[in-house]
Amino acid sequence: MAIIAGLRDKRIILGVCGSIAAYKALDLASKLTQAGALVDVVMTDAAQRFVSPLSFQAVSGRPVYSDMWRAEASGGLPSHIAHVGLAEGADLLLIAPATANTIAKLAHGMADDMLSVTALAARCPLLIAPAMDGGMAEHPATQANFAILRGRGAQVIEPERGRLASGLHGRGRLPETATLLGHIRRALGQGGELTGRKLLITAGGTREALDPARYISNRSTGKQGYAIAQAAIDAGADVVFISAADLPPLVGAVRVDVDSAQAMLEAVLAHIAGCSALIMAAAVADYRPRSVAEQKIKKSDKAMNLPLERTPDILLAVKAQRVESGYPTVVVGFAAESENLLENARGKLQAKGLDLLAANDITAEDAGFAVDTNRVVLLDSDGGTQEIELASKDVIGAAIIKRVGRLLD
Ligand code: C5P
Repeated sequence: MAIIAGLRDKRIILGVCGSIAAYKALDLASKLTQAGALVDVVMTDAAQRFVSPLSFQAVSGRPVYSDMWRAEASGGLPSHIAHVGLAEGADLLLIAPATANTIAKLAHGMADDMLSVTALAARCPLLIAPAMDGGMAEHPATQANFAILRGRGAQVIEPERGRLASGLHGRGRLPETATLLGHIRRALGQGGELTGRKLLITAGGTREALDPARYISNRSTGKQGYAIAQAAIDAGADVVFISAADLPPLVGAVRVDVDSAQAMLEAVLAHIAGCSALIMAAAVADYRPRSVAEQKIKKSDKAMNLPLERTPDILLAVKAQRVESGYPTVVVGFAAESENLLENARGKLQAKGLDLLAANDITAEDAGFAVDTNRVVLLDSDGGTQEIELASKDVIGAAIIKRVGRLLD
């Protein structure tokens, strides 16, 4: 896992409680550390019956806090300052898995072990990811405790549905690492440079139906648009993500899944009101079958002609309504070209009324469609160009969001 800019050098306290899901917290601690965060793990007594402190120490590379009365089990801090010492300067406290017992303690301000004492001393945002079996989560006592904690500004991450340790099925599972990372990134992004701004971001290649079984599409996977949306969340923006690709969940975004260019146009126009920026990273099909057959088209021995018609141009539609409404303030387009990159891109910037255009050469093997890296040239409406060297799509996404932030300022 690569370094994530929003997590680099962030001090994250990971509280682990006694649940079988504690083993999943090991993976989370590992991924956070690989992403560049400084992870201090605090374990309750019960947690240590499931996973050993040594395992967390091995993946985080830092001391683990398991007993505030023993200096060697409290990061070397003398016991009278261990609790405040750990909480001081932390960027985030995440408790995952959080048991009903620890949740009850936190709700009522109890402080009788290293984790509850740290939670009481901490002044950073608090994320709670409960994991519990049976009816414990639904019990009125637990529900009341959630309400108390939420009322104080803590964020409770909904447990997922599925098989529980007892063999029962229900809501109680700790979410997967990727989902927890998404919640952490959103929490850390709050207060960032795009806080209070709404961004509309599209991704993926549209599918234009031919009949109930077939469609015309392109090689876009939506990875670049997804990375831009994640970078916007990292910067604190409210994101509406319109996706025409099969992409993982994006914590912190309102997600709209669409298939065709027409559906994407409708979704963009339905969500554009009040947006500060529109970033059209989607590879919208330029043509679609003139008619969609109701039944699957039968093959014959003869060659087939397929009449195509133009799809609506989403950016042109936005350009037209922007004249009257004044939003979005900033519009960013993409140009995927296989020849005369800059010349074609400059023409597109003007024709579509863009403030910024990200141009990429799709003939390069390490950039463009279906790979994790990209190389783009950003053209602006003043004639300026900025080359972004070969980098991961995450890095490129962050660079584009930085430019959008500057344009909005
Ligand atoms: O004209 P071309 O398709 O090359 O322009 C690319 C840019 O225009 C991209 O930002 C793409 O999302 C957008 N586009 C659009 N509506 C279309 C086709 C492309 O908004 N029908």
